[in-house]
Parts: sequence; C-alpha cells; structure tokens
Amino acid sequence: MSKLLISPSILSADFAKLGAEVAAITRAGADLIHIDVMDGHFVPNITIGPQVVKALRPHSDRPFDVHLMIAPADPYLQAFAEAGADIISIHPEAGPHLHRSLQTIRNLGKKAGVVLNPSTHESVLDHVMDMVDLILVMSINPGFGGQAFLPSQLGKIETLRKMIDRTGREILLEVDGGVNPQTARDCYNAGADTLVAGTAVFKGGPEHYQANIAALKAAAG
Ligand code: DX5
Ligand code: ZN
Repeated sequence: MSKLLISPSILSADFAKLGAEVAAITRAGADLIHIDVMDGHFVPNITIGPQVVKALRPHSDRPFDVHLMIAPADPYLQAFAEAGADIISIHPEAGPHLHRSLQTIRNLGKKAGVVLNPSTHESVLDHVMDMVDLILVMSINPGFGGQAFLPSQLGKIETLRKMIDRTGREILLEVDGGVNPQTARDCYNAGADTLVAGTAVFKGGPEHYQANIAALKAAAG
C-alpha cells in the first residue's frame, strides 16, 4: 500500500455528472472520497447535503470522507451517517461541545474527525485525542477549491504528527487545500499520511485522473 492516501475532493468534479465522476476517481486509484458539505453560513459557499451523499454511495466502494463546514453540525450528523458517510469530520468552531459531537459520531458507528482552520490551534485536540480517528489540517481557508497552499500550516502538521504518535492510536493525519505534487511532498515530509486534492486530481478530465492521483502519491516516493 502507498504511504500516502489520496482523498479526491469532488468539489472540483463536474456536478452535472457526479456519480460518474465518483466512479471515475475510484477506478483511477482514490483511497477515499472527500465530500465537502457547506452551508453558506459557516463558510461563504453552499454545496451538497445528505441526499446527494446517499445518491453517490452506490458509485464507489471507497470510504466516504465527509467534511462538514456547517454550523450547527449536530442536527445533521445522523442524516450523513445514514446517507453512507464513513468518516464525519467537524470543525470545533461549529458548536460549543466538541466532545459531545465526537461522541455522537462514534455512537452512530462512524469514524470521527476534527478539522483545524489555519488559525485554529492544535491544543483544541488535547482532551479528545482518544476519540478522534482523523485530524484534518486546513491549508487554506475553507469554502472554495483552487486556493494557494498556506506553508504556515506545515509546522502544525509536524506538531500533530508527534501528538498522534504519542497516543499509539491509529489516527489519520490529513491535509486539505492547495495540495499539488509539490506541496504534497512538503505535507508528507511534515508527517501527513492522507491528502485531499480537488484541482490537482480533476484537472484535464477523466482520462487524466489516474496520472494525477499517481503524481500525488509519488510525493511519498
Ligand atoms: C475547501 C475544501 C477543499 C477543496 C480543496 O473548503 O475543504 O476540500 O475542495 O480544493 P483544492 O484541492 O482545489 O485546493
Ligand atoms: Zn474539504
């Protein structure tokens, strides 16, 4: 297995044929499918809801890595779980009770993730490290694809790598935003094991997906 897992963000897919796009990235070697859920309130963009996640579920056998950029998130956790999410990640700023939200996700039988905005300190995780299955570092401000990678986040990835290793637990360390073959190498060297990529995976159309994903995985070579 590759040392780097790739989770293509379908935000950069052709929304008029999402099912076919998800099937195409699955065939092209995606390890996870990253689904960006935005509410026009927590972030300044609106994307998709649980019904779309449910409609996409038959198009891939890969885990659905659902990134919730919505506030509040709690009222919708069950709907995303039932729609077929495998990992549900939330931002600490989306509600007052991060611990309770993570408990809810785990009680639904799903893996729980915490997402750190560029300005969010990793210490928010100190007392929930035993409940997280994934930590997602935003290397852009969430809301849109196609933004430039923020190198200021590399130090945070290094710190989180140490925090995760100290637990001895299996926790994915994922990076999201501005990931391309160059920044992928920086992320890997800093300790990331999973990369989200929208623009870099979908550029050129379906006949390029396999090479695009391979180019990102090569960052670990
Ligand atoms: C933005 C999303 C990202 C986005 C990444 O809020 O969380 O997943 O799709 O897009 P690229 O890879 O183009 O920066
Ligand atoms: Zn995302």
